[in-house]
Amino acid sequence: MKDLLFSQFTLGRITLKNRIVMAPMTRSRAINNTPNALMAEYYQQRAGAGLLITEGTSPSPNGLGYSRIPGLYTADQAAGWRSVTDAVHAQGGAMFVQLMHTGRVSHPLNLPAGAKLFAPSAIGLTGTMWTDQEQMQPYPVPAAMTFSEIQDTIDEFVASARLAVEAGFDGVELHAANGYLIEQFINPSANQRTDQYGGSAENRIRFALEIVQKAAAAIGADRIGIRVSPYGASNDMGAYDGIEETYALLAEKLNALGIVYMHVVDHSAMGAPAVSPSVKALIRENFKGTIILSGGYDAQKAEQDLQDHKGELVAFGRAFISNPNLVDKIAQHAALNAPDMSTF
Ligand SMILES: Cc1cc2nc3c(=O)[nH]c(=O)nc-3n(C[C@H](O)[C@H](O)[C@H](O)COP(=O)(O)O)c2cc1C
Repeated sequence: MKDLLFSQFTLGRITLKNRIVMAPMTRSRAINNTPNALMAEYYQQRAGAGLLITEGTSPSPNGLGYSRIPGLYTADQAAGWRSVTDAVHAQGGAMFVQLMHTGRVSHPLNLPAGAKLFAPSAIGLTGTMWTDQEQMQPYPVPAAMTFSEIQDTIDEFVASARLAVEAGFDGVELHAANGYLIEQFINPSANQRTDQYGGSAENRIRFALEIVQKAAAAIGADRIGIRVSPYGASNDMGAYDGIEETYALLAEKLNALGIVYMHVVDHSAMGAPAVSPSVKALIRENFKGTIILSGGYDAQKAEQDLQDHKGELVAFGRAFISNPNLVDKIAQHAALNAPDMSTF
């Protein structure tokens, strides 16, 4: 049996040296929301992965809901990212930037002056979030986005995708998972709009599809991936009537648009609700491009799921934080360092 994890893979325009992906992980080290030398070093150390996906990066000042997360909408931020992509490419790695707009997962203290805290509907999250100024604070109720704010936000994603290419990224991953803005549109618990962006599944996935369509026209569909988390419970998401049909339709439409991958999150190994095998099968059936598997993988399970054709690439998250040389360690069957959650 041929070992798949260490075989090359063609992803759109690029060839990955192996099937191991570094999962997107927020590290909150981007002072002034701009990538820095520490971040370049961090990613360079992990460039053994066939594909690195950056931490969630906002395409807009309005999407910087957490403290010290990076953005990608100014020339300075693009220059900072250029030093990261150069460092990774120098090691033979490839890199996509994850575009994450936090939407309602946000606090005014974390946002730059003048930024808007908005979401599909004026429905606040339960619980609290970190702010550097006043520590834990309750989530505020977001403003409901106007039609023109939706159009402006789509344009911001597209401008950020263009900037990503200028900054040397091999592509962009749209973060439509874990309860951030794009999933706030998809999930009816956060989206109670009565216009063409709310209601039916077709309407709730429209925001995602319009971003994909316009970004594909700008940089090419073969440089666009998307991350989804059906059944995920992060940030007050969760299951709803019609969830399987929603993701089946999304996969079908994304397939027609020709994007290069769908990255499917399953956090059940971290105590999150199970992701139904049927929704995974529907995505696999309707989307003919590359599938990236993620959540709770070790080398053995990764190899098995590749052999079973559940996907073409496998993302590893926490193991990469505590093991920068994870890929070498897997190749050598070496023991891994346990993650130290206090550093996350
Ligand atoms: C510290 C930390 C930060 C994370 N930040 C992000 C993020 O910015 N975007 C995202 O899509 N997922 C994020 N995740 C989820 C990971 O990408 C991944 O799905 C999760 O860790 C499960 O994979 P694992 O079992 O291999 O760690 C984060 C996870 C951790 C532990």
